[in-house]
Amino acid sequence: MEKNYAGILGIGSYVPEKIVTNKDLEQMVDTSDEWITERTGIRERRIAAENQATSDLATEAARRALEDAGIGAEELDLIIVATVTPDMIFPSTACLVQDNIKAVNAAAFDLTAVCSGFVYGLAVGSQFIQTGFYKKILVIGAEALSRIMDWKDRNTGVIFADGAGAVILGVTSPGCGILGIHLGSDGSGGDLLKVPAGGSRLPASMDTVLQRQHFIYMNGKEVFKFAVKIMGDAAIKALENANLSAADIDCFVPHQANMRIIQSAAKRLGFPMEKVVVNVEKYGNTSAASIPIALDEAVKSGRIKNGDTILLVGFGGGLTWGASVIKWCKK
Ligand code: ACO
Repeated sequence: MEKNYAGILGIGSYVPEKIVTNKDLEQMVDTSDEWITERTGIRERRIAAENQATSDLATEAARRALEDAGIGAEELDLIIVATVTPDMIFPSTACLVQDNIKAVNAAAFDLTAVCSGFVYGLAVGSQFIQTGFYKKILVIGAEALSRIMDWKDRNTGVIFADGAGAVILGVTSPGCGILGIHLGSDGSGGDLLKVPAGGSRLPASMDTVLQRQHFIYMNGKEVFKFAVKIMGDAAIKALENANLSAADIDCFVPHQANMRIIQSAAKRLGFPMEKVVVNVEKYGNTSAASIPIALDEAVKSGRIKNGDTILLVGFGGGLTWGASVIKWCKK
């Protein structure tokens, strides 16, 4: 059977209004604007309002993506939400979004691959489109990481933030849309980046709360080393899968974790920084939301144009990684 080509029919993103600058963080923890800017490239980040949970951010991004695609929510067959900060353990955040937007014909589930979640979601969704099983799929990366960050821990408190990005996947013309994918994992590195408690291993108790085990723990140095290596490796594998080389790429949209990680991945792949989308200075690391937010900004600003070949690369806790090569021919 001829397979369909899966492409992005619409895109949208949402970041909360509240801005927390590095100067604000100086008041909260022993850090400095200079250190954060130099070591991470982050200058400010968005933090969800008290009454905003991940599903609220995801819903707004979804509405914008639907509008951009020019379709109604009832046309959706499936909703995938990539997140590590679901509103609650269950029901899934995808089901909450399904109800918010009244996607009455859609199945819905959450996917956990931390910062690689959006690329994983694209990969999963595109399979349903390629086989013809589904016609329209909403893939969202959404996080309210501020809710699981230890604001007293300068290793993590200065890095993570909140936001959401969404795309509508559907059938596109041959040679367009998702051309190559690579996904990977290495669970042996799981301890490098984790939230230890609140699951079935260490259920919430007075003790886990007192020991601050419901917050993100990260071995920054080791994650950094892993990230620098894996971004290049994953990109090369996705390019191979698409039968393309780095020279064919017009625009590189990496996970926005740290400016130094982005620069070293770009260097290894031979991309001048003009080809690289960077917005980490404005939003920090929004985990699964970072790639779709950056992609949305690049498309809306005209940086990514119809006919461009783009490369998305994510990495994160798990450990996980994922890359996708896309021929951008939305309209
Ligand atoms: N402010 C001031 N000083 C700090 C801060 C801070 N916020 N954080 C650490 N320092 C200090 C350290 O204590 C250390 O001091 P010392 O030399 O006196 O011991 C010094 O700065 C250097 O610390 P390093 O940990 O070596 O700093 P590094 O340059 O490695 O930067 C960072 C730390 C930014 C966390 C970096 O390691 C990093 O970006 N790692 C990758 C993190 C990442 O991308 N995580 C997300 C993965 S995606 C996901 O799945 C969510």
